[in-house]
Amino acid sequence: MKKKITIGMLGLGTVGGGTLAILQKNKAELQRKLGVDLEVKRIAVRDVKKPRSVAVDPVLLTDNQDAVLLDPEIDIVVEVMGGTEAARSAIKKALENGKYVVTANKDLMAQHGPELLAVAEACGKNIYYEASVGGGIPLIRPLKYCLGANRIKKVMGIINGTTNYILTQMSREGKEFDEALAEAQARGFAEADPTNDISGRDAAYKLNILASLAFSTVVQMEDIFLEGIDNVKLRDIRYARELGYAVKLLAVGEETEAGLVLRVHPALIPLDHPLAAVENEFNAIFLEGDAVGEVMFYGRGAGAMPTGSAVCADIMDAARAIKNEQQNGVLETTFTRKKVVPMQDQHSRFYLRLKAEDEPGVFAKLAHAFGAARVSLDMIIQKRSDAKTAEIVLVTHDVSEGAFAKALASLREMPAIRIINSILRVIE
Ligand code: NAP
Ligand code: HSE
Repeated sequence: MKKKITIGMLGLGTVGGGTLAILQKNKAELQRKLGVDLEVKRIAVRDVKKPRSVAVDPVLLTDNQDAVLLDPEIDIVVEVMGGTEAARSAIKKALENGKYVVTANKDLMAQHGPELLAVAEACGKNIYYEASVGGGIPLIRPLKYCLGANRIKKVMGIINGTTNYILTQMSREGKEFDEALAEAQARGFAEADPTNDISGRDAAYKLNILASLAFSTVVQMEDIFLEGIDNVKLRDIRYARELGYAVKLLAVGEETEAGLVLRVHPALIPLDHPLAAVENEFNAIFLEGDAVGEVMFYGRGAGAMPTGSAVCADIMDAARAIKNEQQNGVLETTFTRKKVVPMQDQHSRFYLRLKAEDEPGVFAKLAHAFGAARVSLDMIIQKRSDAKTAEIVLVTHDVSEGAFAKALASLREMPAIRIINSILRVIE
């Protein structure tokens, strides 16, 4: 039986640094739990001269990925470099060279997970990806194992730390978007290029992974309705709070009779909803199973040490598989596609902020446009006005996305409406 399991890493940035720090700090603890020693033998990076956040012997560093992928002594390859194409070919090569793989890469697992898991199965190995969703929060393993006896009906939550940090800082501290984003980047929560965080795409990748496991299906990115926080303004966050809501970027996956509902968008949620209290880089996810009922997972969804914690747990699982000479089951390769409900057939309440001519009869015209599209209004409030324009905030009752789009189109035709500033969904 093996006494030592050897690790090669691809990447030593935020997550790689956290992973290595944990492997060093808790080395004896991990050895005691596993009954084998874990040794990091090589680490491929782009720039071997770059200063590192963690103490590392410079001889371990290489800018040649093959020094990791083709080394016959390396048992586990830990991919924490990010990106899609380079990571995809590196992981394939690692598997084909007899290595187990651990990755934190949601972009990759959402877009190429089924293909890579099939390669892993064919090679008699496995890919572990707990860190790809929810940072340090266990989600993949609970879905695959602990809740495996349930039919999962719903997955809903906050699954992007960067946007939650930004929205919290805007709401709590009155910070501007750009300042809050710069802080999230400095703290290591954001992606190397934060575009995917802001656009909601990072959360959509994670929803893809969660929904695939929850509903035993193959999700494609086009199946997920996606809207980011680019257009959420401090003013809307303040008005939402006055109305009794917090603004959060939510990911929702649900298996309904009509098919799968898959969406990521900012939403107003009541201040007394548990998700409203989830702040900064914390994530929280509700899962609803037919046997267990509702389960909530909460913790740090991004950052070096929380994500490193999940990567190290996967390294431990891979080490156990190697030690016990088991493949550990690659269950996800049996999934098939399920029908997805088109967004226009889904239902929401809407919050709308607009500017209109400050003249008699504007409210009546607005109410008429909504009425004609069979959209009923819950609230309509004039927030402030200057000499010529009035700022109006309104909230609809539950409507189909299609009916709301129709009402919006007729609003855009009204000469009295100067501009529609914000449209956000409301989830009760
Ligand atoms: P990062 O700080 O930018 O680190 C990336 C690392 O990969 C760097 O060390 C970089 O080398 C190395 N690298 C990049 N391209 C490479 C290549 N072609 N060959 C060899 N090395 C390469 O990124 P990160 O935040 O740690 O994220 C890594 C992965 O974890 C991503 O998939 C991300 O989505 C995921 N993730 C991140 C978090 C988080 O909180 N940050 C949480 C969960 C998952 P240099 O250092 O020399 O530039
Ligand atoms: N950029 C991601 C986030 C990292 O902010 O949630 C964790 O996956």
